[in-house]
Amino acid sequence: MKKKFVVETTYCIAVAAIPEAFYSDIARNDAQHDEWVQLLAIDEIDGDLTTPGYTETLTPEFLKAHPTLLVDTRHFDPRFTSRLLEAIGDIDDQTDGVLFHGENMQALSLMRTRYQQQVRCVYIDPPFNTSEASLLYKNEYRHATWMTLLQQGVLCAKPMLNEESVVGVAIDDFENDNLSKLLESVFGSSGRLGTLVVETKPSGRTNDRFLATCHEYYHFFGLPGTTAQIRFFPLSREAAAAYSEVDEIGAFRWRDFLRTGGFSTPEERPNSFYPIYYNPASREIRLDCFPGAIEILPLDSNGRRRVWRKTPPSFWRHVSRREIKIEQRASGVWKVLLIDRIKEGTRPKSVWVDRRYDAASHGTKLLKKLFGEAGFGFPKALGATRDVLYVTLGESVDGEVLDYFAGSGTTGHAVIDLNREDGGRRRFLLVEAAYYFDTVLLPRIKKVSFTPDWRDGKPDGLVAGDKAERSPRMVKVIRLESYEDTLNNLGMQRSDEQQLLLDGREAGGRDGLKEQYVLRYMLDVETRGSRSLLNVRDFVDPTAYRLDVKRPGSDESRAVHVDLLETFNWLIGLTVRHIAAPQTFNAAFERDGEKRLLLKGRLKQEDDGLYWFRTVSGTTSDGRRTLVIWRKLSGEAEQDNLVLDAWFTRQGYSAKDSEFDLIYVNGGNNLENLKTPDDLWKVRLIEEDFRRLMFDVEGL
Ligand SMILES: C[S@@+](CC[C@H](N)C(=O)[O-])C[C@H]1O[C@@H](n2cnc3c(N)ncnc32)[C@H](O)[C@@H]1O
Repeated sequence: MKKKFVVETTYCIAVAAIPEAFYSDIARNDAQHDEWVQLLAIDEIDGDLTTPGYTETLTPEFLKAHPTLLVDTRHFDPRFTSRLLEAIGDIDDQTDGVLFHGENMQALSLMRTRYQQQVRCVYIDPPFNTSEASLLYKNEYRHATWMTLLQQGVLCAKPMLNEESVVGVAIDDFENDNLSKLLESVFGSSGRLGTLVVETKPSGRTNDRFLATCHEYYHFFGLPGTTAQIRFFPLSREAAAAYSEVDEIGAFRWRDFLRTGGFSTPEERPNSFYPIYYNPASREIRLDCFPGAIEILPLDSNGRRRVWRKTPPSFWRHVSRREIKIEQRASGVWKVLLIDRIKEGTRPKSVWVDRRYDAASHGTKLLKKLFGEAGFGFPKALGATRDVLYVTLGESVDGEVLDYFAGSGTTGHAVIDLNREDGGRRRFLLVEAAYYFDTVLLPRIKKVSFTPDWRDGKPDGLVAGDKAERSPRMVKVIRLESYEDTLNNLGMQRSDEQQLLLDGREAGGRDGLKEQYVLRYMLDVETRGSRSLLNVRDFVDPTAYRLDVKRPGSDESRAVHVDLLETFNWLIGLTVRHIAAPQTFNAAFERDGEKRLLLKGRLKQEDDGLYWFRTVSGTTSDGRRTLVIWRKLSGEAEQDNLVLDAWFTRQGYSAKDSEFDLIYVNGGNNLENLKTPDDLWKVRLIEEDFRRLMFDVEGL
């Protein structure tokens, strides 16, 4: 099957990232106003001497005072949105998150060219396969089916990883063994980084038969031979307080140079048993006896022979760096002390127990704080997700985090929190297929982008200062065509004989002729040219490509616009720099003495112009600077191409110059073509690559 179309693209853009010239239009938009009242309770914001409070007619000043409000372009007409995108400029650079509403395999297959080797962390919390829903599968296939789905997802995400990336997968006991083996089969034993156990339900499951389960696992893997580094947790305040002395290097404390505990006898460590000589008057320290020196041996409080922490050469290095101190205790005993500098942090352990990891109080109850009700069944604790991302992202504070089982969006929330804490630019890529994408996930991202703290569905204080500046600037929302959409769109061309055969009793019998036919043959043969598969003839008007989508639970269908421009960007893996607003032109023509068609006068840019152009520029995943030109074709090829040539020159473009390595255009054209050093035509037909890449599902 082919990849899926993007059927809708909207942007949620922080007021701070929007030029002020747009504020009055935004302030006048009723739908946006209503959403902010309903989701963010802006009508309860009081003003003070310096900041304007809420007024029924919103003002640009109010917007300016609340720069973290996200403006959702779905409330605005397409002209406004395209003007806004044009004005914002470097689109992908400003995008802090992308939300995909659709099946995860479809989203992964669409996004993987764009994010090839770029995703720093894949964090997933798949359904644990313990719910009633999984009984839909035949029992003996249950584990196998679940594993196949998981494996397909991981394999599809793998090309997006690089040698530093970490994959973390949450699971409980039910599928733990299977999952662990599955991940090892994909990443190899050299990719295994570790397994974490988190206490997620401190009270324990009361309905368990034997032990009351209170934990879940996270398996961490990297690519075979991974170079992933774990990030240390910062020291706790109490631990840091013990380092009470400070020198020019930093905080430190003194610790006993005497080793006690395991492996601390001279028999076990003969090289570390030696006398130290010290002259209390001159404070000189040596390893050989000298006049006025006392001898200090490593003896414990019971007078037993122990060893020092270091061998003589290493002791001597510490002495030369003034990192050894010798003092006499009240009991008269001489103590040798070694400097202990404060650590940058502590290596995370493999078992985590903390109130913040409790899924009930920091997952479900957190959703209640955000929405007044939970609205979603099994959210992870925000603290657990935050800490898993913190340690797996290493020192990198600007990586991509992918979660293709996004649920209520805890991963997005955690990324927003982490960025607010340290000013990082981590980006979240979330995929969710269920309806609560619109009732929980998206509104949650809007809410926590606005302000971090919530109570009873309303803000509990407003974000300010650094934290406001570090809030998300732009979140892109992509909706994908679903399987149902595809099936409802297949325009069948079945002969009467074929239909009769399929309706016969045998067809539905044991060997499932009908089923096999539908799966293997029908999609391939009967649907050639059907729009849901891809009808490139319809590219003559790129704004009018439609799918007929059936409404859930009814036979009614509606035509859904397909976002060809966005779909193509993903297909070629474009990092988008600029999306221009459409331009329209009118033109007049004449023929010269040799009957050649010429433009009569110049192209005239007019609002109702017949000739429509829209461009996207950016860089493909293999680094080619690319210009994509979309145009509407009038059906008069000669005129269309003349207008294209004139428009192309008018824009200051030339196929010969080096601004772009690739230029895509829809519809046959006469643009001067050149071969690039790697034997590719510089000017390429959108339809050709669209078709090739849409059906390029190798490895999926
Ligand atoms: C256990 S939940 C994830 C919860 C999430 N970690 C949170 O804290 O909210 C798993 C999610 O995966 C989604 N899901 C399952 N199969 C999917 C698929 N094929 N495509 C997209 N989402 C899927 C489910 O709808 C569910 O929301």
